[in-house]
Amino acid sequence: MNEKIQNRYAFSIDLLKKAGGIALSYYLNRNQLTIECKKGDKQDQVSIADKTVEAKLREAIAEKFPADGFLGEESGYAGLDSEFCWIVDPIDGTSPFLNGLYAWCISIAVLYRDEIVIGMVFDPLHNELFHAKLGAGAYLNDLPIHTLDPAENVQDGLVGLGMSHRVPPKTILPFLEQLLSEGGMYVRNGSGALSLAQVAAGRLLAYYEPHMNCWDCAAGMLLVREAGGMANNILANNGLLKGNFVLAAANQSTYQQLDLMRTI
Ligand code: IPD
Ligand code: CA
Ligand code: CA
Repeated sequence: MNEKIQNRYAFSIDLLKKAGGIALSYYLNRNQLTIECKKGDKQDQVSIADKTVEAKLREAIAEKFPADGFLGEESGYAGLDSEFCWIVDPIDGTSPFLNGLYAWCISIAVLYRDEIVIGMVFDPLHNELFHAKLGAGAYLNDLPIHTLDPAENVQDGLVGLGMSHRVPPKTILPFLEQLLSEGGMYVRNGSGALSLAQVAAGRLLAYYEPHMNCWDCAAGMLLVREAGGMANNILANNGLLKGNFVLAAANQSTYQQLDLMRTI
């Protein structure tokens, strides 16, 4: 089994670097992109960049591992009952991407049955590839990474927050109030996947978002766990298709402190 996982791990590293080059060239020419809104939400946009990157990834994965399942934000799913299943967000942080900001990435996770065994987040702008394999630790390019240490409470670092119009404001406002009341501070960069990778790298203390889809966070959650942190199970309660809340933190004590601030 480990060999099958390792084959997919090595393949994903090369694949992400190639896909990152394509995404970066779209980003550098973003003024030429036609932008569409999803489901009438002007804050939820998509362009040919998202669709092309996902199509290239899907094609390459199907060619190399034809029996594997696939779930992608832009093209949907097939073969979810396969032994291995790939979960892809071709551009996480589409809004920063299209607005010329700096937090966007490509996120790929691989499930072996119901477990995330590979998680990779590539930030082409900074040439940072965060990668983790279940039980083998987390890395940023060639170096091992660890969650923030020491971190005893929410005052010891920055908490990344995410929000979308999929859920109402009341799902985050009490959390924010509690965080600030307890002396914590938040940042929101617009890419949940990259924020989770930054928790893994010890740059952020934690990340919270009331609802994310699996493609936004499966890779980042494995990265955090493999870097020594704690994250909830995104796959619980049919999370693969419906999504879930996401809480990831540097360690158990900060996780528990933040968990008490959640309303959902
Ligand atoms: C979004 C980003 C954002 C998060 C949203 C996601 P997208 O993904 O990760 O930071 O707050 O929940 O939907 O649309 O940029 O791929
Ligand atoms: Ca996303
Ligand atoms: Ca996306």
